[in-house]
Amino acid sequence: MDIHRVGVVGAGTMGNGIAHVFARSGYSIVLCDVEQRFLDRALETIGKNLDREVAKARITADDKAKALARIQPVTDRGALSDCDLVIEAATEKFEIKTEIVRDLDRLTRPEIILASNTSSISITRLAALTKRPERVIGMHFFNPVPVMKLVEVIRGLATSQETFAMVRDLAVKLDKSPVEVNDAPGFVSNRVLMPLLNEAMYAVMEGVATPEAVDEVFKLGMAHPMGPLTLADFIGLDVCLDIMQVLQSGLGDAKYRPCPLLIKMVDAGWLGRKSGRGFYRY
Ligand SMILES: NC(=O)c1ccc[n+]([C@@H]2O[C@H](COP(=O)([O-])OP(=O)(O)OC[C@H]3O[C@@H](n4cnc5c(N)ncnc54)[C@H](O)[C@@H]3O)[C@@H](O)[C@H]2O)c1
Repeated sequence: MDIHRVGVVGAGTMGNGIAHVFARSGYSIVLCDVEQRFLDRALETIGKNLDREVAKARITADDKAKALARIQPVTDRGALSDCDLVIEAATEKFEIKTEIVRDLDRLTRPEIILASNTSSISITRLAALTKRPERVIGMHFFNPVPVMKLVEVIRGLATSQETFAMVRDLAVKLDKSPVEVNDAPGFVSNRVLMPLLNEAMYAVMEGVATPEAVDEVFKLGMAHPMGPLTLADFIGLDVCLDIMQVLQSGLGDAKYRPCPLLIKMVDAGWLGRKSGRGFYRY
């Protein structure tokens, strides 16, 4: 099946990036969120990020205008019914994704693929909510989506080879590098990355070092482009906590216990870059 029109549910950090890369590659996008203000913010962000690409001469001003014109922002999910693929990129809560995935299964043509950008939630569980588990898959983009090459393509237990091949080929068409991964809590990326970030938070909480010092150790000693606490602020501390909770409940090992400082910061509304304050102030 040819894919022309792509639905993206959730217009936050990841949803706007996913809409950006598809629109830039010529796909028509239906971008859906619960309130108009989230869509306005997403379009503003996409506009600014496309401006950066124009400034670097990667695309022309005309390409930018055309890409933006391909994005239809909607609050009514019914507008997704004629999409050829829908990618769910809403908040990392199983209850929220459950409601969305069930609704998408009802709304969209039965032959289309439903993909989730979840960082950690089981694709097998999401697939089991639908009448098309063989056409449910994880398409896990990385932040910032227009820049990062990797897409983890996650097979649920029931995902068909045809679905896997279509999504893998689609990622290549978007100029991304797909890597095949099986379904397990946190997949590969967050199974390995998030405990590192969580441990860095414990080091700060226990007074081992300041956030600046922890980040310097990783930049200068391990050649990481940014330190773990800068990265956590960039990802969103609420997203980090949600992922740690999925690792903790899914894998059951005490080593996945979310750092109490992380819990406290999320309770305070210090969510990192997107809220203006996290381990650093923005
Ligand atoms: N932030 C990252 O670095 C990162 C990286 C890879 C994957 N992810 C995953 O991507 C997904 C989105 O994360 P994010 O960082 O963009 O979060 P975010 O908080 O920036 O955005 C989430 C968006 O989903 C919207 N939303 C919530 N419920 C909705 C509903 N019922 N219908 C439509 N929209 C709804 C919210 O209004 C919000 O705009 C999560 O599953 C997350 O785990 C995040």
